Amino acid sequence: MSKHQANGDLPDRVPVHLAIIMDGNGRWARERGLPRLAGHRAGTENLRRIIRACVEFGIKILTIYAFSTENWGRPESEVRGLLSILEQVIDRELDELHQQGVQLRHLGRLEGISPELQRKVRQAIELTKNNDRLILNVAFNYGGRDEILQAVRRMLADKVRPEDVTDELMSSYLYTAGLPDPDLIIRTSGELRVSNFLIWQAAYAEFYATPVYWPDFDKEELRKALIHYSRRERRFGVLKPETT
Ligand code: FPP
Repeated sequence: MSKHQANGDLPDRVPVHLAIIMDGNGRWARERGLPRLAGHRAGTENLRRIIRACVEFGIKILTIYAFSTENWGRPESEVRGLLSILEQVIDRELDELHQQGVQLRHLGRLEGISPELQRKVRQAIELTKNNDRLILNVAFNYGGRDEILQAVRRMLADKVRPEDVTDELMSSYLYTAGLPDPDLIIRTSGELRVSNFLIWQAAYAEFYATPVYWPDFDKEELRKALIHYSRRERRFGVLKPETT
């Protein structure tokens, strides 16, 4: 029995790269008679706990879906609220994240965000760029198809020859360039959709869905998801030698 199993605490094999679709903030709030933004705030508090838990569990990369390109279609007050939450996270949490050794990255487009917020995002990325305990990719103003379209446009602009277009080249043109693909994608709140998240990178990711709303998805829930993952066998489309 491994050390991890022995203390009954940590799963045996943790993903290097975990991605999370943090869903259910709105329903969490509605069930409590609160405005949707209260759900997003509770979700943000939870994010803080989950980041800490990821560091503790030894996960090296965490990618979170915070705001999709489709989310601009939500009521203006909610969009403004989500943008201001992002700003508050940078203003209030950056020092602590930096101290924890978290390297912040942004996946998505900065256009559409105020110049002031763009500046803060860039500064946060610059400040934390040498941290290596956990890479935290924040997908904000992000869409998976949009990411692939951008990549194709840049390849054409770079005059890449058709025969040079490979898996590796495509990966190097994505926002996640240089990072391994996610091993596990968690979606909270019971939905079973990918919702335009990491379309290319998710090709062989394991998927874990739970009915728990994001604000309630605590360290214990994360542990459950990781234990589930550690028991799965990943085949990447290939059969095990003894079954061939
Ligand atoms: C989905 O719940 C959640 C979002 C669209 C936003 C997620 C954002 C946070 C948790 C805040 C942290 C963000 C930053 C900027 C770091 P939903 O509103 O779709 O819930 P519902 O499906 O129950 O309505």
